[in-house]
Amino acid sequence: MIIAVLGGTGEQGSGLAVRWAKAGHRVILGSRTAEKAERAAEALRGRLGQGDIRGSDNPAAAAAADVVVLSVPYDSQLGILESARDEIRGKVLITVVVPLRPPKVSHAWRPEAGSAAMEAQGHLGGDTPVVAAFQNIGASHLADPDHPIDSDVLICGDKAENKSVAIDLAMDAGMRAIDAGPLVNASVVEGLTAVLIGINKRHRVPGAGIRITGLTG
Ligand SMILES: NC(=O)c1ccc[n+]([C@@H]2O[C@H](COP(=O)([O-])OP(=O)(O)OC[C@H]3O[C@@H](n4cnc5c(N)ncnc54)[C@H](OP(=O)(O)O)[C@@H]3O)[C@@H](O)[C@H]2O)c1
Repeated sequence: MIIAVLGGTGEQGSGLAVRWAKAGHRVILGSRTAEKAERAAEALRGRLGQGDIRGSDNPAAAAAADVVVLSVPYDSQLGILESARDEIRGKVLITVVVPLRPPKVSHAWRPEAGSAAMEAQGHLGGDTPVVAAFQNIGASHLADPDHPIDSDVLICGDKAENKSVAIDLAMDAGMRAIDAGPLVNASVVEGLTAVLIGINKRHRVPGAGIRITGLTG
């Protein structure tokens, strides 16, 4: 699969990218600046010692991809989506975006649309299904692709066929993924990230996570 990671020059996107490349996917890091993306891709290839990771500007990355991942700060998500709207259309958009309001990033906050994911879906329209994933996985866990991750990935989206794309990619990146219901539930999953940031601070750890218990299958 060809995966574009818009904002893949950042911590969260590059951590996912390196794991997907290790699993054999072709990954394109997207950036507002093609040169920055190319440099970041070169660094990831060096870190991994293998793998098909390239870099380009966000629209070109989205155009070349089968699936598009959005990994930018909340305040910039609509601008980035708008810059690549035509190139994303019709593809599954997996968003990792969490709406945080500095300086109180450990206080849960919802945008007017209910969640960053719902806002993205409203902006893109029904032709482009949005799936929310990876909001509760700290970047510190992702950077080393050999580091085992015991946090679950909660996947929210309105159609099973689109969620299954994200579930497969989470498993390819070494995580257990759980269908957490429709996209409207992303408001809870995004809010949990603020809770985890607060736990990180109080316990002086880099990446507290969540685990769903009681599952038999
Ligand atoms: N870091 C984590 O542990 C973590 C965990 C869970 C969820 N998340 C969420 O994942 C998303 C990405 O996190 P991150 O830590 O990787 O973020 P980040 O490093 O701050 O930003 C990611 C990329 O977004 C682009 N960007 C930054 N500011 C921008 C702006 N004002 N306008 C347009 N593009 C901008 C930059 O790419 P270019 O300069 O190359 O364009 C940057 O490399 C966020 O929504 C975050 O809340 C993060």
